[in-house]
Amino acid sequence: WWSNVQMGPPDVILGITEAYKRDTDPKKVNLGVGAYRDDQGKPFILPSVRKAEEIIYKKGLNHEYAPIGGEAAYTDAVAKLAFGEDSPVLKNKSNCTVQTLSGTGALRLGLEFITKHYAKNKEIWLSTPTWGNHPQICNTLNLSHKKYRYFDPKTNGFDLKGALEDISKIPEGSIILLHACAHNPTGVDPKPEEWKQLSQVIKDKKLYPFFDMAYQGFATGSVDNDAFAVRLFVQEGHQVMLAQSFAKNMGLYGERAGALTFLCGDEEAAARVMSQVKIMIRTMYSNPPLFGARLVHEILTDPQLKAQWLKDVKLMADRIIDMRTKLRAGIEGAGNKHSWKHITDQIGMFCYTGLKPDQVERLTKDFHIYLTKDGRISVAGISSNNVDYIAEAMHKVTS
Ligand code: LMR
Repeated sequence: WWSNVQMGPPDVILGITEAYKRDTDPKKVNLGVGAYRDDQGKPFILPSVRKAEEIIYKKGLNHEYAPIGGEAAYTDAVAKLAFGEDSPVLKNKSNCTVQTLSGTGALRLGLEFITKHYAKNKEIWLSTPTWGNHPQICNTLNLSHKKYRYFDPKTNGFDLKGALEDISKIPEGSIILLHACAHNPTGVDPKPEEWKQLSQVIKDKKLYPFFDMAYQGFATGSVDNDAFAVRLFVQEGHQVMLAQSFAKNMGLYGERAGALTFLCGDEEAAARVMSQVKIMIRTMYSNPPLFGARLVHEILTDPQLKAQWLKDVKLMADRIIDMRTKLRAGIEGAGNKHSWKHITDQIGMFCYTGLKPDQVERLTKDFHIYLTKDGRISVAGISSNNVDYIAEAMHKVTS
């Protein structure tokens, strides 16, 4: 059996971690996967999460199945975090929100739902570039995907003109995937006025916006600021779909706590969508895991814990900003002739360095610094101990 199966390629992001683990050099650095590290380079357990663990433990809860779509107390809390406490679309119950296996699970479920139930143009438009798993999930589902301009390599910033031009040519009724904040891999987000223009053209073309929000809090350090685009679109009448993840902003990577929301117009439509989503979940994994969702729920609904969590998120976001400043200063201080302004202009977990594939290869081969082939680095993997080493290596491979 299985002699027909071909060897597949390693994952473009998680495969980097595998290669990093195999490296025995003590100087090795992993800037591949987007996973936050503290200033000692260690995984960070948020103080708010630790406290929530204690509270949950003391509750002595059982391990019964969660409902197919997750606990309502959880889905209510996470929808409020995204759309706002007083959001009219939540008040009138026109949302269908289910717990998913983190952000990837939400994307997979949402896109799979599209393959089965979306009645218009089943074509997904992705930013250039985008997170590698976006096209990969579409491919798995045989969903056609195309590209709109997003990143301008000349400025290392957002290509507003290119994006507007391309989006205005997308066939009516298609689906457009948008990164709500802290765009992955570029770290480049549209400004509020630019989001307004995007919202308008998306409305004019009757496109269906699917937001991927994996980094709420990581772009600006404020969860409300980072929800700006999603809330603006809702305010402007778009019935968005939204994927949420608590991997990064609560450091719950392995707990797989996320959510998928469909805004449906009214409560009756939301109930119909919910009935079909439940059938889909039931045949995939039956019902979601409890523990991560319990932590998220506890943090979002206990005012003291929530206040602590907001501080924790800000602390992570600020440390990353500090590392951006130090990395840029280190490369410039070495006398490098290129501009490195984009390191501090870009936001969120990633910096799209502009390093070419051969420079990336040299960083890995000669300096044991691991990053994805597109030149993206996870700034969250930089610490006071390795920032000078990384800066010097980046200077050397670009001089
Ligand atoms: C990343 O882009 O590094 C993260 O979103 C982790 C992942 O699953 O790819």
